[in-house]
Amino acid sequence: MSALPHTAQVPEVASGDDLREPLPVLVVGAGGMGRAWIGTVLRSDAAVLAGVVDVVPGAAQRAIDDVVPESGRPGVAAGTDLLALIATTGARAVIDVTVPAAHHPVTAAALEAGLPVLGEKPCAATLAEALSLAGRAESTGTLFMVSQSRRHNPHLREARRLADELGGAGVVTTHFSRAPRFGGFREEMAHPLIVDMAIHAFDAGRVLIDANPVSVDATSTNPPWSWYGGDAVATVSIRYDSGALHAYTGSWCSPGEETSWNGRWSLSCPRGTVAWDGDTPPAATDAEGAHRPGRAPGEDELWELDASLDAFARAVRTGETPDSEVHANVWTQAIVEAAVRSADEGRRVSLAEVLDEALDQARTLDHEQQGSSALDSWASGAAGLSTTMR
Ligand SMILES: NC(=O)c1ccc[n+]([C@@H]2O[C@H](COP(=O)([O-])OP(=O)(O)OC[C@H]3O[C@@H](n4cnc5c(N)ncnc54)[C@H](O)[C@@H]3O)[C@@H](O)[C@H]2O)c1
Repeated sequence: MSALPHTAQVPEVASGDDLREPLPVLVVGAGGMGRAWIGTVLRSDAAVLAGVVDVVPGAAQRAIDDVVPESGRPGVAAGTDLLALIATTGARAVIDVTVPAAHHPVTAAALEAGLPVLGEKPCAATLAEALSLAGRAESTGTLFMVSQSRRHNPHLREARRLADELGGAGVVTTHFSRAPRFGGFREEMAHPLIVDMAIHAFDAGRVLIDANPVSVDATSTNPPWSWYGGDAVATVSIRYDSGALHAYTGSWCSPGEETSWNGRWSLSCPRGTVAWDGDTPPAATDAEGAHRPGRAPGEDELWELDASLDAFARAVRTGETPDSEVHANVWTQAIVEAAVRSADEGRRVSLAEVLDEALDQARTLDHEQQGSSALDSWASGAAGLSTTMR
């Protein structure tokens, strides 16, 4: 993101001695993804597992028993009360892997206790709650980074590098086509594809396009053969302030020729095109028709959750701003909210509209909870998001 008009409170940076020690973290939420995060912390040099928290009694200990090797378990605390474990374990940071509805209370509590947070996507259950958390990060002066794991993909960064060589991506298309049968909540949501899956592609589009998103046009449907209750198919066009366009077409009920989980990408640039299948290194074709293969990632490059944790731990230590710091990440959630509204109401929706409405709701929430008055100084949703935390 570009403009940085005002600077929020600068958070405390770890002292020199702390820079050499792995960061002790609590993983909050011991479900499927929580287990993946426990494994990520265990194989990381940058962090160490201090404990696991889950509201369901016994769930944290079960996850530890399932994922942590027996020899490592004595040093790992388990419990249902986040603040109690913060007080007793010496944890210095929190990874919030709870269900989206719990992201706001859990992350707000950790920030208010002074601990930086790495939160699973989405930032929060609603855009208003996401803005409220941006305000809490400001008022506590504490880092909140959202882990949008698919942006930490070396192939995606290579696609961006190739596009930049060709003058920058101006038209980006994503085709996503799969047929998973998850069961559970995704089959009951009104917009499972847009809310639960396309959010990753919208975020990746923001990595590829060097501009700010401004508006969204979306159409969604649910084919007669779909096994989802809500709309499993959507086309979403996102306009950027540079004039760039990201056109996404996705389906979660298309058996047959399926794309990768990242989707199939094409980036049209002034001097050529970049193609990426979502799985293997991207490649470019320049205006003269010459093929430019993309570089394969190095063996020691970190991917997805590992890269996200590494970026977070580095940011806590050095004070640098990670690219998914809450203020920057909220734009991705705003695209999702605008896409749902556009599909439901059959009209173009500007991000300013959804951000300003959400800002009003977030201020009300913060006043009711006596949480933070940081949002009172935001001139608008978009202006507040260009605050930098460091
Ligand atoms: N990045 C990805 O590709 C990816 C994939 C799957 C899930 N996710 C995200 O990860 C998060 C968790 O998803 P999941 O599939 O593990 O869900 P899950 O339902 O399997 O697990 C969530 C856990 O959080 C616990 N919990 C709920 N409220 C809590 C609270 N207040 N305090 C402590 N624990 C609480 C629940 O008891 C449950 O054990 C979601 O935000 C989801 O969107 C991301």
